[in-house]
Amino acid sequence: MTFTIAIDGPAAAGKGTLSRQIAEVYGFHHLDTGLTYRATAKALLDAGLPLDDEAIAAEIALGLDLSGLNREVLAKHEIGEAASRVAVMPAVRRALVEAQRAFAVREPGTVLDGRDIGTVVCPLAPVKLYVTASAQVRARRRYEEIVATGGAADYDAVFADVKKRDERDMGRRDSPLKPAEDAHLLDTSEMGIEAAFQAAKSIVDAAL
Ligand code: C5P
Repeated sequence: MTFTIAIDGPAAAGKGTLSRQIAEVYGFHHLDTGLTYRATAKALLDAGLPLDDEAIAAEIALGLDLSGLNREVLAKHEIGEAASRVAVMPAVRRALVEAQRAFAVREPGTVLDGRDIGTVVCPLAPVKLYVTASAQVRARRRYEEIVATGGAADYDAVFADVKKRDERDMGRRDSPLKPAEDAHLLDTSEMGIEAAFQAAKSIVDAAL
């Protein structure tokens, strides 16, 4: 039987890096489910289609090919913003969750990261992590990331954006972001990447 690790948390908490490292150390397949929402949003934007028409967005989501997802192409801020708008629509979520569940059963194991993996997509996953950090720390990291890659950023604007994304993700009716009851909480506010990885790895090792 396959082994699934569910990793959830808010934007910029460090889930992405952690999930990649965990998948690599165990030789598991990794799916960043945020990319499925981003790819759906990008396809709509590229085709000049509305972001709030549930039937159209669901059709795009149903036709999505998970193998072609690429964070570089989907990283833009506008795409993340549009993704969080399409992610409130139940028909879009149904289509993407189905594709994510099909991915989750790959052998020998999988790591899925997102917002609702432990609560909705893989509620029976033997390991669930909820990775978080304060909004200030997350905004600071995002700000430094933008500056480090040569971009221009304003900390207050980045902070406001992190808060807005949290509100949309935690406040939506369908599959709001929240820790599963049996999730291990990992607050990375005062933890480096290596410490977070070691903490996550000991939780997984204990369950394997
Ligand atoms: O994590 P990332 O910023 O790539 O996700 C983009 C958006 O997709 C999130 O703000 C969230 O609204 C949505 N999302 C979701 N459920 C997931 C993953 C992402 O609703 N499992």
